[in-house]
Amino acid sequence: MAEEVKKRVFSGVQPTGKVTLGNYLGAIRNWTPLQEQYDCLFCVVDLHSLTVTQVPAELRKNTLDLVALYIACGLDPDKSALFIQSHVHEHAELAWILDTIAYVGELNRMTQFKDKSRKHADNINMGLMNYPVLMASDILLYQTEYVPVGKDQVQHVELTRNIAERFNARYSDTFAVPQCLLSKSGNSIKSLLEPTAKMSKSDPNDNAIITLTDSADTVRRKLRRAVTDSDTDVRCVHSSPSKPGVSNLLNIYSLCADVTVEEAEKQFEGKGYGVFKDAVADAVIAVLEPIQAEQKRLLSDKAYLENVLGQGAEKASRIAQKTLAKVYRKVGLIPRVR
Ligand code: TYM
Repeated sequence: MAEEVKKRVFSGVQPTGKVTLGNYLGAIRNWTPLQEQYDCLFCVVDLHSLTVTQVPAELRKNTLDLVALYIACGLDPDKSALFIQSHVHEHAELAWILDTIAYVGELNRMTQFKDKSRKHADNINMGLMNYPVLMASDILLYQTEYVPVGKDQVQHVELTRNIAERFNARYSDTFAVPQCLLSKSGNSIKSLLEPTAKMSKSDPNDNAIITLTDSADTVRRKLRRAVTDSDTDVRCVHSSPSKPGVSNLLNIYSLCADVTVEEAEKQFEGKGYGVFKDAVADAVIAVLEPIQAEQKRLLSDKAYLENVLGQGAEKASRIAQKTLAKVYRKVGLIPRVR
């Protein structure tokens, strides 16, 4: 009997700064169950990190930390290819071809480009503008069908679809046209101090974010300081415009304690915010502690991590080479004779 061909999933996280609870609940955590059903590739997108200024030694450390974190969060190297973007040179090569397909106007309109240009006004480099083209290259290189990401990346996946369709129309069918996979409630975890903005790795105020390496005491302290609401009605209500902070904490609680938001609302009915925030902290700490212990253990075994990365890059390269050869042929480049 013919072997069933699994659909492909691709996603990645940048090794920039510290990974947040938003990255975990919006992305990494949702990748684990996909491994059972799909052919998955999960990448540490180090080339993307270079679009903002990096300290080289820190980038190297963050990259390995993130690989260990992927595994500690439940990604299984025997089921999924785990690899580093720069280890598969086809990502950068395909990005060049796609640069000739993407329009300056559409890249200029990307929300993230506009945000980052504002935040890094002294370093609006071409890479920052081309960031979504490199992301399209990551996705299209693997004939990806599903891209599990948080809400902030939907626009980039839409652009990827447009680029794929434009290329296919111009040069005949070449790329699968991917779709976003959004988690229902975790797709936009908000800042603890400004709960209408997303929780972001690059937030200059460390108290606004929970990182996956925060100690139990730090998590508790940050959550106690979290903004709750602007009115005086001490009630845990989800999705109330006057209570974006409470809504965000309820969301975090429901995801970490594995209860519905309605159950959580009931649980904290008539209780003050102090009790509520401590319970959120307990739930977050219970999720983070086993991940932290496992990440630490993995980081002490560099040989194992290198082996995982070698295998992952090998699998990724095989697929990437095939797609890039097809693309080069379609656009009219002559293959090198060996
Ligand atoms: P990065 O590292 O900024 O974010 C990694 C993932 O975390 C999600 N995320 C969130 N989800 C919910 N709430 C939040 N507050 C929150 N903050 C971040 C992001 O949506 C993302 O899924 N450009 C990508 C990296 C990338 C990529 C790719 C992803 C490069 N190439 C190809 C998918 C496919 C990014 O945002 O990384």
